[in-house]
Amino acid sequence: MNNNWNPGSWRKFPAKHQPDWPDDAELEQVQKTLADQPPLVFAGEARNLTSQLARVVEGNAILLQAGDCAESFDSSTDSIRDKLRVILQMAIVLTYSGGTPLVKVGRIAGQFAKPRSNPTETQGETELPSFLGQIVNDVGFTVDERRPDPQRLLTAYHRAASTLNLLRALTRGGYADLNQVSSWNRDFVASSPAGERYAQMADEIDRALRFMAACGLDSNTVPALHEVDLFTSHEALLLNYEEALTRRDSLTGDWYDCSAHMLWVGERTRELDGAHVEFLRGVGNPLGCKLGPTTTVDEVLGICEALNPDRVPGKLTLISRMGAGKIADGLPALLAAVREAGHPVVWACDPMHGNTYTSEGGRKTRHFDDVLSEIVSFFAAHESEGTHPGGVHVELTGDPVTECLGGSDDLVDDDLERAYETMCDPRLNGRQSVDLAFRVAELLRSNVTPTLGR
Ligand code: PEP
Ligand code: CO
Repeated sequence: MNNNWNPGSWRKFPAKHQPDWPDDAELEQVQKTLADQPPLVFAGEARNLTSQLARVVEGNAILLQAGDCAESFDSSTDSIRDKLRVILQMAIVLTYSGGTPLVKVGRIAGQFAKPRSNPTETQGETELPSFLGQIVNDVGFTVDERRPDPQRLLTAYHRAASTLNLLRALTRGGYADLNQVSSWNRDFVASSPAGERYAQMADEIDRALRFMAACGLDSNTVPALHEVDLFTSHEALLLNYEEALTRRDSLTGDWYDCSAHMLWVGERTRELDGAHVEFLRGVGNPLGCKLGPTTTVDEVLGICEALNPDRVPGKLTLISRMGAGKIADGLPALLAAVREAGHPVVWACDPMHGNTYTSEGGRKTRHFDDVLSEIVSFFAAHESEGTHPGGVHVELTGDPVTECLGGSDDLVDDDLERAYETMCDPRLNGRQSVDLAFRVAELLRSNVTPTLGR
């Protein structure tokens, strides 16, 4: 089917949001070195994710895609573990309270590149290239730090490899055991309403596990109770990097981008005649595509045809990110068109990127209530179109940051100064994430509108 495709065929198409690399020869050399490195994931794992996502298409599972906006090369082991912990906590809440199997995909182990609205940033009299993620340049505002450096592609690969190694160890080695559900909560149960609610649920799970143990069932011998599948994903933005990690699968002969299990194309780079869609149409991985508020029916149908022409269930996830005020107008026509055309997609809601604004204190932020409100409208749109609300896609961290407003701790503008640490977009902290999971679980259970706190 992909006669005219090869891992480098994107080069014949316009590629937006690529850095202005200072030295093409150095970039080529780095790409060669990357091409000699082992793959980070295997094609069989990517196919496994596609089949799990096919269950989401049918309405028999839910997708949770979550993690950092932009990962840092300097993330500590604790920070990576805590991010995993929050994802696992959300997953437990959604599975236990929502009663639905969950497919867990991290924005993790490779989410290093950022598209920016402005190519440059001005502070006072000085104008420098924008920060494009640590795979390109650095966040500090100096000429040296902002200069794109191709060697960073190699650092990104090695950081992704070590993060993935840690995640594989934690998810297979006992950290994700259901007997640990209470211990994941240790540091925020005392003071947070979401934590108290979580503790109650964890007690019920502990009781059920003790009952099963008393009946002779040892959770160590049951992989489903002892281990979890966490898949990796990132925006396939830097095409030199993605091309270098694209390999032919020895079992099927198909091409896979082995930098992550799932790749998505962003709102700013999803043109049908652009390099990003050209690259992604040729790889066997499950794919995502962000859809902003101006997306047309023709565009979404074009994306479906380009990225999943064979209509493989679970191959394509459409991630709407319209904004709480725009989704009710923008989404239903897209749902209807995709349904009518018979494309078997997962529909996910990214309630973060359409709800970003600048607070009175000058910080880029998002309000928890807008995040929740977009999800409520997402469920309502699916209800009216007779389609499945497949899941959510959120930016979060396990670090105790204060970047988004609201939530059960009711963070206000003044709180943002306390722990505003993100390198790019504002993220939900652990408490806000678990709180959100409880609200989404309510929606899943009953399709009843959860209480909007503001
Ligand atoms: C992102 O997911 O970090 C992002 C940049 O999203 P979008 O393409 O939807 O703006
Ligand atoms: Co972001």
